[in-house]
Amino acid sequence: MSSSTSSSLAGLVVAVDGTSGSGKSSTSRGVADRLGLRYLDTGAMFRAMTWWMLREGIDVHDPAAVAARCDEPVIVSGTDPLAPTITVDGVDVAVGIRSDEVNAAVSPVSAVPEVRTRLLELQRSVIADDGGIVVEGRDIGSVVVPDAPVKLYISADPSARARRRAAEQGGADVAATEASLLARDKIDSGRATAPLTMADGAVHIDTTPYSLDEVIDQVVDLVERAGAHP
Ligand code: DC
Repeated sequence: MSSSTSSSLAGLVVAVDGTSGSGKSSTSRGVADRLGLRYLDTGAMFRAMTWWMLREGIDVHDPAAVAARCDEPVIVSGTDPLAPTITVDGVDVAVGIRSDEVNAAVSPVSAVPEVRTRLLELQRSVIADDGGIVVEGRDIGSVVVPDAPVKLYISADPSARARRRAAEQGGADVAATEASLLARDKIDSGRATAPLTMADGAVHIDTTPYSLDEVIDQVVDLVERAGAHP
């Protein structure tokens, strides 16, 4: 952890929204580590809910079936930015939630209002625990923590996003990865409840031309200024 951790950041919430592959997760974790803050990946919670629905054999394209069962899984997120964890009913699903099956099913599950209500409650209870936190997702600045003092909207060109995501997945097909990312963007931005949007007051960072370290530097700067002047 960085020595720049400051007590003025102790209760700070940094809300980070954006599309998959935009650099949002690496940036959020890097910023949390540098500033000694906790980190919450809300996408992992939606993925964990989806993993459980698939395991239970629930039709993820039937919103009523998803809504009827979404209070059942016990989802627990660990908030260390260097080693974030996620379990469902005590099972470590960190790897399982990144499968192609979950990638294909997570957007329809996330569009179900009852799922969002359940996970919103969980997210707010993690955020309310002790210590400042960087929270990443799609609706963090608009719905989950609309009064967060620092809000970011992170984007990147689709081809850059696909290249990064395919590399993370050990050299997956870039064109297929781009098609999958764009299909998810469309559902995530077009859904009725809590769509992906740039929140009021958010600072937009297009990461396409920057290295990860350059983006982290920009964000740390913004957060330190907000922490010094809450
Ligand atoms: O960030 P990610 O790609 O792991 O997110 C997976 C899915 O979860 C994404 O396609 C939409 C959904 N999601 C959401 O609806 N709201 C959030 N706050 C975070 C993720």
